Amino acid sequence: MWRGVCRRHNFVEYAVPTLQPTELFVEKSGPEIVGQLFNFADKGGREVTLPPEATPYVAHMVGAKASALKRPLRWFSIPQCFRYERPQKGRGREFYQLNADIFDEAGITAEVEILALTIDIFRSFGLTKDDFAVRISDRTLWLEYLAATGMTAEQSMNVLQIVDKWEKEEPAEIKKKLEAIKTGSFEKIGAMINIKSIDALEKILSEMNAEKLLERLNEWKALIADLNAMGLKDFVQVDLGIVRGLAYYTGFVFEVFEKNGGRALAGGGRYDNLIEKVGGPKMAAFGMGLGDITLLNLLTEKKLLPNLTTSCDFYIAYMGDAARAKALEILPQLRDAGFSVEISLKSLNFGKHLKAADKAGARVAIIIGDDELNKGIAKLKSLSSGKETEAPLEKLVEYLRSAE
Ligand code: HAM
Repeated sequence: MWRGVCRRHNFVEYAVPTLQPTELFVEKSGPEIVGQLFNFADKGGREVTLPPEATPYVAHMVGAKASALKRPLRWFSIPQCFRYERPQKGRGREFYQLNADIFDEAGITAEVEILALTIDIFRSFGLTKDDFAVRISDRTLWLEYLAATGMTAEQSMNVLQIVDKWEKEEPAEIKKKLEAIKTGSFEKIGAMINIKSIDALEKILSEMNAEKLLERLNEWKALIADLNAMGLKDFVQVDLGIVRGLAYYTGFVFEVFEKNGGRALAGGGRYDNLIEKVGGPKMAAFGMGLGDITLLNLLTEKKLLPNLTTSCDFYIAYMGDAARAKALEILPQLRDAGFSVEISLKSLNFGKHLKAADKAGARVAIIIGDDELNKGIAKLKSLSSGKETEAPLEKLVEYLRSAE
């Protein structure tokens, strides 16, 4: 289902190898993920790991093939990822993660398109604005803001790490950490974290009167205006409390949360320096990752799990050897015509054929016996209504096509 949404948004699928050089994730993903790697030395003494995420790999691949690729690129993948985390609700040691990224698009088109795709994936399962929200934040804005308050780049990065854990820690603990890095007022940083609207953002930034911050405010306004124009206003919230733990993010970042709390359902952001860091040219990138475990939990809770029973267009029920031969002739013709078709190669009685058709989830049973062969027809029995019609055997494919 989520694959179909990516294709509708014109994203192209790529594959992620299961074993990768450990080095790719060390430093690139950040210390939290490095501590969770399933890594080992292979028989040749090479340090390898199961992938904890796809981003460093895809950045490396796009960088290596940059000159041969027609850009911008819209790529997605659904790799199995592995993180040695403490298993708990919404987090496992192995999970599937849908990744969608746009490469070489520096403007907010990438943000708008990735956010629209992310929202559409959740909506495609029947989830609504009452079930989930996309919280958007901005590392560029944070860094410009902290610089405007007089912090060095190193102090600012330390503060962002504190912001990342703000909601989980006691105020006294946070104050202690701020004192340790000798910067940042608890109240001022807390006020930034509490910004939940563009108006509130504009108020704080206008008071600072720093040109770079005001330029950034205009980017924000353009982003929100485009999301509004696409009818996505009710799904997104400004939330500067989000800064993302991964090391490579540079600009707008976001996380998707259930409306009533819980773990993040998806997360992503801009990472304009990573491709260069993994050996490629300087290239803009923006993307997201969305895990299957949290999505599955939410769909189960909301009773929205799609019905995964099999279904097909036709089941061919034949009676007798002559009919079996005809059925085997028709079967590939129908499949070549694009229909999904099942058959039993074991001879069954009529009742068992119909049971098998039902089990296969067929819409229609195509029934052929001696009588039908003599008359040159096939009977078509709708499995839902039980209604029967007749179709010419020799022109069955054309008949079924025109009936579609
Ligand atoms: P992330 O926030 O680490 O980002 O993971 C994204 C999503 O993957 C999470 O919101 C969650 O749904 C799922 N996830 C992560 N860890 C686990 C786990 N242990 N068990 C189950 N689900 C999990 C990234 O991985 C970035 N590489 C995303 C990205 C792509 N950014 C740009 N492009």
